[in-house]
Amino acid sequence: MRILVTGGAGLIGSHCAEYYARKNAQVIVLDNLGRSGLFSSQEKSVEHNWRYLKRYKNIERIKGDVRSKKDILRAMGKGVDVVVHAAGQPGVSSSKCCPAEDFDINALGTFNVLESLRKRCPQATFIYCSSNKVYGANLNKIPLCKLKTRYVYKNCQGVSEDFPLGLSGRMPYGTSKFVGDLYAQEYAYSYGIKTGIFRMGCVYGERQFGFEQQGWETWFTIAALTGKMVTIFGDGRQVRDLLYVTDVVEAYDKFIRSDKKCGVYNIGGGIKNTVSLLEFLKYLEEETGKAPKIRYKKWRQGDQKVYITDLRKIEKELKWQPKVGVRAGIKRIVKWVSENINYFK
Ligand SMILES: NC(=O)c1ccc[n+]([C@@H]2O[C@H](COP(=O)([O-])OP(=O)(O)OC[C@H]3O[C@@H](n4cnc5c(N)ncnc54)[C@H](O)[C@@H]3O)[C@@H](O)[C@H]2O)c1
Repeated sequence: MRILVTGGAGLIGSHCAEYYARKNAQVIVLDNLGRSGLFSSQEKSVEHNWRYLKRYKNIERIKGDVRSKKDILRAMGKGVDVVVHAAGQPGVSSSKCCPAEDFDINALGTFNVLESLRKRCPQATFIYCSSNKVYGANLNKIPLCKLKTRYVYKNCQGVSEDFPLGLSGRMPYGTSKFVGDLYAQEYAYSYGIKTGIFRMGCVYGERQFGFEQQGWETWFTIAALTGKMVTIFGDGRQVRDLLYVTDVVEAYDKFIRSDKKCGVYNIGGGIKNTVSLLEFLKYLEEETGKAPKIRYKKWRQGDQKVYITDLRKIEKELKWQPKVGVRAGIKRIVKWVSENINYFK
């Protein structure tokens, strides 16, 4: 099997690349190593992952940009069997600062990948890393209760795929990801391309270089272990269902191997893997013996107080369930950050 992973130096992309390399596939990774720049940071981040992947002889690494069709076609070569499109501008606040860059990378970049696939290898399977932000401001209309350390949904088990998409209130990031999501669906419908769309929330794991604006789970861990200050926007009771990156890759693989032609899935840790920011900090302290310094700022525009995924569709259609629980996930990222602490000092 030949597989192209765009954004292959990132969190999700590097785990996909490694997973298929271990299965003896021929893996091509396309990445512009632009992650730090998107967050206006001088720190080297995904360059580590780029070097990490060098150990696999069956991974070819190509520096290139999804904004360029030429770069994508070069990476596709004579054609591939699967494209995992994980390249992206993944931050919500960065999308508000730089909406043009966000649009070019997420919306146009996805279109370029789809169009190149249609021309070069229309039999290939396309996997799109979508976001639960496509549901926009409607998510904040779900009634909530406020408990001591978290908000909870009053009478909702989780957000399913038929949740109303609404007209706006997605922030530029949710909008550009939604454009990609819609185009991926359209290419399945109009051109018969086998397409799996995964609407994700908080994915975390080893090789995630977290910043305040994105990847908060590892950012909190880095801050705890290096004595840096964490800013909590809001009251810290906001709840997420955490999803470990290796579970994401398994879900993609199940779709790739299935006979489904097109699937749109909400994917997250589900109700069993929910945690509030305050609870996460407590677990982190229990794990490391250290707590980051904290300051509070007002809620950010577009922040959801609670997001929990309804997993029933993906469980039924792909026979998939998350395997890595929150406490085990925290243990793994604490270990990874500790082993690579020089990056973060
Ligand atoms: N991590 C999450 O919680 C999460 C949740 C929902 C959706 N997503 C989506 O999943 C995808 C992957 O997320 P991630 O967490 O691995 O992010 P990441 O930032 O770790 O990885 C993205 C990679 O894309 C690369 N990249 C950025 N712009 C590029 C361009 N123009 N051309 C080529 N490469 C480029 C970056 O250098 C980086 O290596 C993104 O599209 C993101 O929007 C992620």
